[in-house]
Amino acid sequence: MSKEINGFSKLSKEEKINWIADNFFTNSPTAKRILKQYWNEDEKLQKLHDEFSENTLSNFYLPFSIAPNFLINEKKYSIPMVIEESSVIAAASKSAKLWFDLGGFKSKVISKIKTGQVHFIYTGDEVAITSYFNYIKSILIQDTKTITSNMEKRGGGIVDISLIDKTLDMKGYYQINVSFDTIDAMGANFINSCLEQISKSFRNKTDGFKEFIIKSNDIKIIMSIVSNYVPDCLVKAEVSCKVEELNKKEDFNDFCGKFVQAVKIAELDTYRAVTHNKGIMNGIDAVAIATGNDFRAIEAGIHAYASKDGKYKSLSHAKIEKGIFCFSIEIPLALGTIGGITNLHPLVKLALNMLDNPKAEELMEITAAVGLAQNYSALRSLITSGIQQGHMKMHLINILNSLEVSESEKRSAVEYFKDEIVNNNNVQSFITKLRKSNEI
Ligand code: MEV
Repeated sequence: MSKEINGFSKLSKEEKINWIADNFFTNSPTAKRILKQYWNEDEKLQKLHDEFSENTLSNFYLPFSIAPNFLINEKKYSIPMVIEESSVIAAASKSAKLWFDLGGFKSKVISKIKTGQVHFIYTGDEVAITSYFNYIKSILIQDTKTITSNMEKRGGGIVDISLIDKTLDMKGYYQINVSFDTIDAMGANFINSCLEQISKSFRNKTDGFKEFIIKSNDIKIIMSIVSNYVPDCLVKAEVSCKVEELNKKEDFNDFCGKFVQAVKIAELDTYRAVTHNKGIMNGIDAVAIATGNDFRAIEAGIHAYASKDGKYKSLSHAKIEKGIFCFSIEIPLALGTIGGITNLHPLVKLALNMLDNPKAEELMEITAAVGLAQNYSALRSLITSGIQQGHMKMHLINILNSLEVSESEKRSAVEYFKDEIVNNNNVQSFITKLRKSNEI
């Protein structure tokens, strides 16, 4: 039963744990022990993690894994990925190795522009506000200089700023649309700071405009915020090879034909498209988390992009042309390799180091390739053995751990299930039988 408390954030970490353990658990010492079990002994490191967020009680582990043997744009990578789903890394690695032998992934950033918006209401004359915007535009840019000067030195900054009339959608609704190049930063904080300055100047500098009378109070700023929809921050990754070559590698006569049909189904049917794209996100999110990127923003942007034609569709596409099988993905990916927690979280720093400290563009190319590799592996299983065979083999250890088996029982089960179907019942009855036979 939930309890209420005022000033929780002001309590010390120890006090917070005590309050949670004593109020929510019958066995309070166990709850405290579990929470503290995940503390790092290195106090400085623990403090760093505590301070990433508010009200931190403990750390939440996820596996930090490596998918080796990726060849992307002729460069070899071992890719750090953070994910709990047991079959994802094996799937990515398998696909990476297969495509390594077939020439690797080609990946290319198409565009790198992000957008932010100031949403405001003005119910006066449209000509007056348009003319005010044209007058104030250069001042708005000038007023952000203290924020943008460093980014400009790196070659980025505000790319464009325009007024959009949305009054047909809602009475008096306009947007100031600002596009940005944030170079190697994901840039949300930078963009939001610029937008807040722009909205202030836009509202407060009406006095200098003489052509029409516009008062500050005529402009109601609703909000100023980055958009996580980034259709102009796009990357495309692809693999291709001769149809016979892939059919032979996969040891399946019509592998390519069936694969193309499976992708087509995800282009046609939304139920399938969502699962298909979820498989792609298994790879993308895992790289995003390992490299300290905001996977929620990425998810939101990518799924919106999947619906850009008015219907939610597959993010990847496959075709056979003149005997060549081609499989590709085009996705918006606003990734950063500086800022945020990228130079704070030791494992993120290590992950970026492993990738040779890439620029944001290179990380976009890597991440898109991993998404495509993941999608390839899932489809490969789906159209051949079915997904459960590989998936449940990888999940076996989780089932065994949930049954609290001993290490020797685990070894026997892994051996036995090499050629048997893995599911909860089969594993449970194998362990029961094994224990009975050991009693005799
Ligand atoms: C499971 O995490 C992902 C898949 O369902 C993706 C797919 O169906 O394409 C296997």
